[in-house]
Amino acid sequence: MSKRLFVVFSLLIIASMVLSACATPTQAPPPPPAETAAPAATEAPAAPAATEAPAAPAATEAPAAASGEPIKIGILAPLSGANPTFGVSTRDGSLLAIKEWNAKGGVLGRKIEAVIADSQCEADPAVNAANKVIDQDGVKYIVGEVCSKASIPISEIVNEKKVVQISPTSTNPSVTVAQDGKVKPFTFRACFIDPFQGTVMAKFALEKGYKTAFIMFDQGNDYVRGLAEFFEKAFTEAGGQIVGKETYTSQDTDFSAILTKVAESKAEVLFLPDYYPIVNLVGAQAKDKGVTAVMMGGDGWDSGDLDVKAADGGFYSNHYDPGDTREIVQSWVKNYQTEYGGATPDALATLSYDATNLLLAAIQAAGVDDPDKVKDAMAALKWEGVSGTITFDANHNPIKSAAVIGVKDGKKSYIGTVNP
Ligand code: PHE
Repeated sequence: MSKRLFVVFSLLIIASMVLSACATPTQAPPPPPAETAAPAATEAPAAPAATEAPAAPAATEAPAAASGEPIKIGILAPLSGANPTFGVSTRDGSLLAIKEWNAKGGVLGRKIEAVIADSQCEADPAVNAANKVIDQDGVKYIVGEVCSKASIPISEIVNEKKVVQISPTSTNPSVTVAQDGKVKPFTFRACFIDPFQGTVMAKFALEKGYKTAFIMFDQGNDYVRGLAEFFEKAFTEAGGQIVGKETYTSQDTDFSAILTKVAESKAEVLFLPDYYPIVNLVGAQAKDKGVTAVMMGGDGWDSGDLDVKAADGGFYSNHYDPGDTREIVQSWVKNYQTEYGGATPDALATLSYDATNLLLAAIQAAGVDDPDKVKDAMAALKWEGVSGTITFDANHNPIKSAAVIGVKDGKKSYIGTVNP
């Protein structure tokens, strides 16, 4: 792996030099060509309200009649709480997949109904939301959660109640693997995992010539703590040195004491693998304090609400880039923009779309509305998603590449892709 990464990164460095030389923003995809343009963005319907099934779209051909009771898909998303853009994107990506399936006649000849619950990216609300959709709404299939901290407790419930779960974006290894090292049979994910993501950023930092790093992390967040550990391991194993490590809590808003230590440590990299609201706070305070370390992080930075000024000069790993020129990516970006008033889908929306498609394809492949059969069909599935081709390893993790994104002068730019 390291040799391959080395080669890829050498190419990346060149690619990034070329990219910054021509300073072409890759974030904004080209507008759709006029002849294929879908209805004006302003006419796009808003996301359906919670627990409402999306309205069937106007199809040009009559879809096959969907009969019988609808198949319910629970969408557990953090619609409130600290990271609301995560929930909105996840809900919207999933609803668009369901809408497309319904337009083609549903699944197993039955209509698909979305049951949305706010799981807040936290353990207790996530447990309540999972129990509610399973026990009260009769959901047998769940897309969610976004955050590992919420997906892990949900996975305990679904494996006890035999409900299939696919998390679009939870990257901590413990989401799909129990403490005894056994795979959780009913839990899957549509994303890569943090040991890979941590290695990608560690090698990226070293390839850029940085040899020292300071790590800041939230001890109480499975994802943040895990990614910090995986980065440290990969960075030190490849010859880098960790010159400082400090913890904080999700309630903290003043990071000046830690940032003083970062400045004193003269670290070249400040690794901050948290979600965007913390990155916004830390980044702004670091700039005020004159911290010169280059900030780096993981997929948690991915949000339309990432403060690009605060994160300026930073880099993070992510699951996809909307500027990717592959046809499947560009038609997805276009469809999403048409549906949601011109919004560009972030990684969460994209992975939620892929996860929902995977789940519905597994139900279709199983040929029966039975979670026990669907989980087996899912484990054997190969699906070409927008975020890459997905097949599951023995631990129900897809093997996928990561995109490295740089934040510079108000723009997020694609730097390159790293394969496992
Ligand atoms: N990977 C994060 C977690 O496991 C969730 C996340 C994914 C957040 C992608 C933003 C973008 O908690």
